[in-house]
Amino acid sequence: MRIWCPWPLDDSALWYGYYTPFRLETSNVARHDNIRKMKTIRLNQEAQIPVLGFGTWQMRGDECVRAVSTALEVGYRHIDTADVYDNHKDVAKAIKESGLAREELFITTKIPRDLLCAPDVLENFNRYLNELDMPYIDLFLVHWPNKQIPILDTLGAMNQLKQEGKVKAVGVSNFTEHHLEDALSTGCEVTLNQVELHPTFNQLELQEFCRSKNIAMTAYSPLGRGEDLSHPTILELAKKYGVSPAQVVLNWITSRGIVAIPKSSNPGRIEDNFKSVSWTMGNGDIEKIDSIPQEPRILDHPGSEFDY
Ligand SMILES: NC(=O)c1ccc[n+]([C@@H]2O[C@H](COP(=O)([O-])OP(=O)(O)OC[C@H]3O[C@@H](n4cnc5c(N)ncnc54)[C@H](OP(=O)(O)O)[C@@H]3O)[C@@H](O)[C@H]2O)c1
Repeated sequence: MRIWCPWPLDDSALWYGYYTPFRLETSNVARHDNIRKMKTIRLNQEAQIPVLGFGTWQMRGDECVRAVSTALEVGYRHIDTADVYDNHKDVAKAIKESGLAREELFITTKIPRDLLCAPDVLENFNRYLNELDMPYIDLFLVHWPNKQIPILDTLGAMNQLKQEGKVKAVGVSNFTEHHLEDALSTGCEVTLNQVELHPTFNQLELQEFCRSKNIAMTAYSPLGRGEDLSHPTILELAKKYGVSPAQVVLNWITSRGIVAIPKSSNPGRIEDNFKSVSWTMGNGDIEKIDSIPQEPRILDHPGSEFDY
């Protein structure tokens, strides 16, 4: 069964598959059913990204280890981190304690905008591998664009890492259409753009642009950092489907063929968010959420280039 989404499902460069875990335990059949049913988006020949991942921003130390451990136990196999989150070692600790094999996991990390010169990319990437205690990264992203540094330098170095087998897929984050055009003009691989995306900031135009260029998307701050959960339309649909508001929002995102990476440090919410992949939203309701009035983005900072 394929899910409804605006992406060209029959396009060989971007298609859906199913994420098959190598290890199934017997203690919780429902959880494993969700792992088995987790849809993926193919980024290239070597990487398929599970549509639901676990965000780790603003979690460090024991809090991060506990949360990632809970997420892995619940069934998440896709973890989102970044150099600036300063939690690579905590993520690595939770992964090690889980006993899961590296091939069962999909790990994303990101390089900051002040380290985008080729030598910095290559040097810091080795540090990431050491901190994460793994031989390769599934998805390596430019965290924020930086027009001061030629994008060919950055993507060239990232794609070199891919050729060396240390990265499975290369992508970007916080890129506007113009940044993406510049990146694509280099001829280097750009498989995905991770951006703020939630019901009150749905990025429909950027979605359309990325679809036209076969660039997958990940929604960060998918719950609007919790703020979108009390919107009347979300509450109405939560009641209709008998699920939490967070599940409605996450189901809407993944139903649109977009990856969602909610963060929570609360075990009950970590599990609730994971259940968002276990039911189907009607197309009419997807459109209802699409038409929620839009508000300004939540995340911005002085160095961002959102006006480009
Ligand atoms: N590329 C980028 O520049 C970028 C920028 C921002 C974020 N990100 C990534 O995206 C991830 C998610 O974004 P985010 O952390 O900004 O925001 P988010 O996932 O939209 O929201 C997190 C907030 O929602 C709460 N929450 C989580 N699940 C809930 C539920 N079921 N019911 C009610 N509240 C719930 C959490 O509180 P509790 O923890 O108390 O549950 C937390 O306060 C980040 O962790 C990071 O990995 C990337």
